[in-house]
Amino acid sequence: MENKIIDESKQGEVLVMDVLTSSASKNGKKLFLESYGCQMNFADSEIVASILMKEGFSTTSNAEEADLIFMNTCAIRDNAENRVRQRLQDYKKIKRSKPELLIGVLGCMAERLKSQLLEEEKLVDIVVGPDAYRDLPNLITQAETGQQAINVILSKEETYADIAPVRLDKNGVSAFVSIMRGCDNMCSFCVVPFTRGRERSRDPKSIVKECQDAFEAGYREVTLLGQNVDSYLYSGGGLKKEILTDEQKANSVNFAQLMKMVALINTDLRVRFSTSHPKDMTDDVIEVMAKYENICNNIHLPVQSGSSKVLEMMNRGYTREWYLDRIAAIRRIIPGCGISTDTISGFCGETEEDHQETISLMNQVKYDFAFMFMYSERPKTLAERKYKDDVPEVIKQKRLAEIVALQRQHSEYHTRKQVGNITKVLIEGFSKKSEEMLMGRNSQNSVVVFPKGNYKRGEYVNVLVTSSTSSTLIGEVV
Ligand code: SAH
Ligand code: SF4
Ligand code: F3S
Repeated sequence: MENKIIDESKQGEVLVMDVLTSSASKNGKKLFLESYGCQMNFADSEIVASILMKEGFSTTSNAEEADLIFMNTCAIRDNAENRVRQRLQDYKKIKRSKPELLIGVLGCMAERLKSQLLEEEKLVDIVVGPDAYRDLPNLITQAETGQQAINVILSKEETYADIAPVRLDKNGVSAFVSIMRGCDNMCSFCVVPFTRGRERSRDPKSIVKECQDAFEAGYREVTLLGQNVDSYLYSGGGLKKEILTDEQKANSVNFAQLMKMVALINTDLRVRFSTSHPKDMTDDVIEVMAKYENICNNIHLPVQSGSSKVLEMMNRGYTREWYLDRIAAIRRIIPGCGISTDTISGFCGETEEDHQETISLMNQVKYDFAFMFMYSERPKTLAERKYKDDVPEVIKQKRLAEIVALQRQHSEYHTRKQVGNITKVLIEGFSKKSEEMLMGRNSQNSVVVFPKGNYKRGEYVNVLVTSSTSSTLIGEVV
C-alpha cells in the first residue's frame, strides 16, 4: 500500500490470484479466482484453491482461458458490491462467446444476496456462501449439467480446520491463518454477522500445525485472523462458548494462550494478528506480546468514532473513556507499540461535535496509520432498521477528508521520529519503485526500504533509518 491510509475509493482492493499457473491440471480444467475484501476472504480463497486442486483443477491468471471463473466477494460497503457487479459484466462477455464457461460468486456478497443474485445476474451459475466451500465439487457438477447451483447455508461448526490452504500469495514470507470464523458482535452498521454467521474458534492444534508447516515451507511471519481475535476461545469436545461452565472455560485455550503457542514454534517466526476489539482486549494479550520478542509490537484497534454517543448507537460495547484506557494499557506495557485503527465518518445522527470528538481522540492517540471510511448503510443491519442514514453525502465526504488529512500528519510524525533509529526488518521482496531496493516491515509494521546488497527475502536485517516519507522509512543495513 503506497500510503497505508486508504479512503472509501480504495476499499475492497482487488487481487488476482495467479500463482498456480504452472500446476498440472488433472481434470484438464482451469480456474480463475479473484478475491475482494478482507484478509479473511483471501485466506478463504486459499481454502477454495485447496479444495479444487484436490478435484484436479489448475489455476490460471488469464480469465479468457478459464473453464471456471470464481469471484470471492465482499459486502462490507455498497461500493465493494458495485465493483463486483461491474467486474461480472466483463466475465459475462467472455461467457457469451464461450457458453460452457461457469461463473461462480463466492463469499459475503453471495451470502447476503443468496438466490436473488442468480435472478439478477442471469449468467451466474454458482452462488456459494463462506461456510459451504466443501460443497463446491458437487455444485460444480450440478452447474455442468446446466442447472444453477447454490449453497448459502451458514454453519455453527465449520472452521475448515483440516484443510491445508494452498498459499496463493507470491512473497512466500508472510502467511495468513484464520483462527476463527463469523462474528457475534452485531455492531449496528455491520453486515459481517449476516454474511459470516456465528462466531466459532478453530482447534488450536490445527492452527499451530498450519503455522509450523508455513515456517517449514520458508514463511517467516504468520498473521492470525479473526473478526474479533480477543474473543477466541477453544474448548475440547466442540462445546459452545456460551454454554461453558467457568471450570470448562478455565480449561480451554484463549487468545493470549494461543498466541504464546504460536510464538513458541520458532523465534524466527514473527506473529501478527488482526483484528482486536477494544471491548474485549485484555492486558493478558498485551503482556504476552511484551514477553515474546517475535510477537510484533503492533495492534490494530478499530475505534470507529471518538464520540461515546455514536459508539453507543453503533453498539460497539465501549465508550471513548474505555477505549482510551485500552490505549493507555498498550502504551504502558509496550512503549513504542505501533497502533492503527479504522474510522467511520457520517454514521447515523453524527453531529459536527461528534465528528470533532473523533478528531480530538485521533490527536490524543496519534495513530501510526488508519483505514478511514464513509458510512455506507447495509440492508438488514440494526442501523438500517433503527436509524436514519441522515448525514448528507457531502458532509460525510468533508469529515472523511479532514480525518484523512489529520492521519497523514500523524503518520508523518511517527515515521519522522524513527529517523536515526536502528530497526529490525523482515525482508518481503523488492521495493515497488526499484529492483535495486528491497522492502520489508519492522515489528511496528512500518514499511522499510533499503539498497538490496546481497540480502534476500525471508531474511532479517537491522536497518539504520536515514530518512522518511509519511508512509515509508528509508535506510541502510548496518
Ligand atoms: N471486525 C472488525 C472490522 C471488520 S470490517 C472490527 O470490529 O473492528 C472493517 C472495517 O470496515 C470496520 O472496522 C469499519 O470501520 C468498516 N465498516 C464496516 N461496516 C461499514 C459500513 N457499513 N460503512 C462504512 N464502513 C464500515
Ligand atoms: Fe462487524 Fe463489529 Fe463484528 Fe467487526 S466486531 S465484524 S465491525 S459486527
Ligand atoms: Fe468483506 Fe466479508 Fe471480509 S463483507 S470485509 S469479505 S468478512
